[in-house]
Amino acid sequence: MAYKTTPETLSDAQRQFYRDNGFVHIPGIISPEEAAEFHDAIQDFSEGVRPNEGRDLMVRDQPVFTQLVNFWPENDAIRRLTFHPNVGAVAEELAGVPLRLWHDHVLIKQPHNETPTTFHQDQPFWPHDNSPQSISAWIALCDVPVERGCMSFIPGSHRHTDLPAQSTRDANILFTAQPDLTWATRITVPLRAGDCTFHHSRCAHMATPNNTDQPRVAHVVIFMDCTTTYSGKRHIVTDPLNLEIGALLDGNLFPPVRDFATRIKGS
Ligand code: SIN
Ligand code: NI
Repeated sequence: MAYKTTPETLSDAQRQFYRDNGFVHIPGIISPEEAAEFHDAIQDFSEGVRPNEGRDLMVRDQPVFTQLVNFWPENDAIRRLTFHPNVGAVAEELAGVPLRLWHDHVLIKQPHNETPTTFHQDQPFWPHDNSPQSISAWIALCDVPVERGCMSFIPGSHRHTDLPAQSTRDANILFTAQPDLTWATRITVPLRAGDCTFHHSRCAHMATPNNTDQPRVAHVVIFMDCTTTYSGKRHIVTDPLNLEIGALLDGNLFPPVRDFATRIKGS
């Protein structure tokens, strides 16, 4: 299938924008038809799911968003999206290093949720060492105008490497930790279905509330360097795995992008 953006059509300007700013808007990472198919698969699946019902899948339902973590082992359609060859290939081009899956998560902002996702960096939440280039693909599965909960980024904030974890429900916490970001430029990126933004794991970002009648459905695929090791920090994905501190994060749950084509077919 021909996509608007592929590793071959990615421009030098897009690569440079990502390096300078820590995020980039990529039109058409998947087709609008694929976005509609994945959107419907998520709607069918998520309606029957209740938080903490003891599945492998981890579900958190909050005003900020309904979050389904590690959705790919549960659902064939989402497995195809998480291991989508174009998404992984463009992520590796932008990161400039070999990557593997960290985890995926579906993020639904329910209609009229009235709650933003406040500014934060992702990396401080993760139990990772040796992962300087980790990167997320935030894929819009419906049109996401500003009114439905699109993302905003602080260009260049990925260079702040020593900040503590910042809650997604406290609008001041990033700026208390790093006051010089208070007056920094913010860039807001509405997306059409099938577009995505890639952001570096330390690029500060937020999402507006959903003020529309339709849910905002996004699928986020998070990639980490193939060199990533376990730091011992608590995290819902790694807590059940009994890992040794310093262990390479590899194995079945964390396949490298180069194996994605085979992983689409089964876990
Ligand atoms: C959101 O979609 O509401 C936030 C996504 C993120 O923090 O990566
Ligand atoms: Ni985030």
